[in-house]
Amino acid sequence: MVSLQGIHGRGIKPAVGSFSGWFDLFILLVIFISALKFLDITKMLPIDPTKKVTFQSRISEGDLVIVYERHDHMKAIKVCCGSVFQNRFGVFEHADWIGKPFGSKVLSNKGGFVYLLAPTPELWTLVLSHRTQILYIVDISFVISFLEIVPGCLVLESGTGSGSLTTSLARAVAPSGHVYTFDFHEQRAASAREDFEKTGLSSLITVGVRDIQGEGFPENFCGLVDSVFLDLPQPWLAIPSAGKLLKLDGVLCSFSPCIEQVQRSCESLRTNFTVVVYRCKDI
Ligand SMILES: C[S@@+](CC[C@H](N)C(=O)[O-])C[C@H]1O[C@@H](n2cnc3c(N)ncnc32)[C@H](O)[C@@H]1O
Repeated sequence: MVSLQGIHGRGIKPAVGSFSGWFDLFILLVIFISALKFLDITKMLPIDPTKKVTFQSRISEGDLVIVYERHDHMKAIKVCCGSVFQNRFGVFEHADWIGKPFGSKVLSNKGGFVYLLAPTPELWTLVLSHRTQILYIVDISFVISFLEIVPGCLVLESGTGSGSLTTSLARAVAPSGHVYTFDFHEQRAASAREDFEKTGLSSLITVGVRDIQGEGFPENFCGLVDSVFLDLPQPWLAIPSAGKLLKLDGVLCSFSPCIEQVQRSCESLRTNFTVVVYRCKDI
């Protein structure tokens, strides 16, 4: 993987990192700046120690659990007394799961077993329904680190896609921050909203339907935004708008699979920002 990072506004010397991707090129353009705020909790977010989902927490009716058969075979299921989960190992009654600690091994009618894991953004990325290509955890970690996202941050994202990155962004800004994510595809936006309800993150995320390349981000965020993330086919069209909305010392990261997209984004960065630093990462 190759990533590029741009820094603006602090007189930092431009620098170029190594560049040697053999397969997919992922380029991250980041313009830096930061912010700091504080915490709260939802179902999926083990942040407040008093409300943390731990192995001591017991499974209740209505909880989302990750049913783990193998590392490459997992499924998210809402626990519902009276329902069953069926696989090649037999039939599992949800009623048997209620009251058990997360992490428990549970048995089927035939003596087969699965584990019931507490949902996390990392697991959600592995089980979500793929409506688009998504970011996986290695890239998500890189993005969140270089975007300098901490609790309390205000983050803008486009496109929402399958909400894989959005889920981790929400955990990073919780409990007092917020993620505004935009996609121009109405059905994708609606499905993402449903997923965020399911995972208990909807209070931290607002999904908007908007053509970000055509219209830019809504102007009411002007000067308030800590971080912007772009995963768009023509990110350079959204960079001027992002530049207006970012706080001084805000950060922008653009993720692209092709070097031509990166080159055009770099041109736009140079036009809209004063100092740009590139960082490259290979996988
Ligand atoms: C590759 S997906 C994003 C995946 C996402 N990062 C994830 O991890 O799940 C790109 C998304 O950008 C959206 N998109 C493309 N052009 C757009 C535009 N002009 N404005 C807003 N969204 C756009 C697409 O509909 C698609 O859902």
